[in-house]
Amino acid sequence: MLLDIRNLTVEVEGKTILKNLSLSIGFGETVLLMGPNGSGKSSLIYTLMGHPRYIVKEGSIVFKGKDVTSMSTEERVKLGLGAALQFPPKVYGITLRALAKKIVKDEAEIEALASSLNLTNFLDREINVGFSGGEMKRAEIFLLLLQKPSLALLDEPDSGVDVENMVLVGNAIGRLLSDSSRTAVEKPSGLIVTHLGYISRYVLTHRTYIMQNGRIICYGPTENLVNDVLKHGFDWCTKCYGDRFPCTYLGDKV
Ligand SMILES: Nc1ncnc2c1ncn2[C@@H]1O[C@H](COP(=O)(O)OP(=O)(O)OP(=O)(O)O)[C@@H](O)[C@H]1O
Ligand SMILES: [Mg+2]
Repeated sequence: MLLDIRNLTVEVEGKTILKNLSLSIGFGETVLLMGPNGSGKSSLIYTLMGHPRYIVKEGSIVFKGKDVTSMSTEERVKLGLGAALQFPPKVYGITLRALAKKIVKDEAEIEALASSLNLTNFLDREINVGFSGGEMKRAEIFLLLLQKPSLALLDEPDSGVDVENMVLVGNAIGRLLSDSSRTAVEKPSGLIVTHLGYISRYVLTHRTYIMQNGRIICYGPTENLVNDVLKHGFDWCTKCYGDRFPCTYLGDKV
């Protein structure tokens, strides 16, 4: 198992946000995470990356067989965790190219990835300063893909991106996560937060989890769950699966 989150309870500013949450991702697997606003999806990503405000009260995070629950963000990144945040910060005084060069030495690789994400004209601008929402999203994904993480945590890569750029973003993420020429052990894994599931058109996913109120309430095949959520909403998930936490997808029960 690449990532094993066991019975995780997390507090931020004294408020319990994640509640006894368990979730596992195998080598080469990509999973989607869906859930209503405020259900704790981004908090899970911050917690996995070791953000100091997110305090683990119970449970553990095991990554590549190591308990990383108390590790610093830097140590986690060195082990192969990487994230593209929902709301990346502006970084004044540092250009996108300067940071990219800290990640990889090969300028041609930087240029090629920037071009594939329609970012060539942004390389010499300060990171995210004055970027539009979609440009910021592409820049964040660019920096994550350069890192070539073993587990890519992507928070809403398909929100706020226009149709043409969605194709570029989807294909770039797909190249990282769905490369069929690589064996499962070599292939990076992914945890992708999405509201509408567009990203699943570009990335082969192994399953989808639904989160509500800090808990995983069900999981199952992406196609079924994305369609059901878009058709019926999240309340339907609670009604359908509500008494059995967590439970697998059992077919259309509406
Ligand atoms: N630093 C913080 N201080 C106080 N409350 C916080 C903090 N961080 C998160 N929360 C609260 O935790 C809950 C979960 O937030 P989170 O950002 O994880 O939701 P989300 O599932 O990512 O939602 P969205 O779909 O809107 O991005 C929210 O109610 C949020 O207000
Ligand atoms: Mg969020």
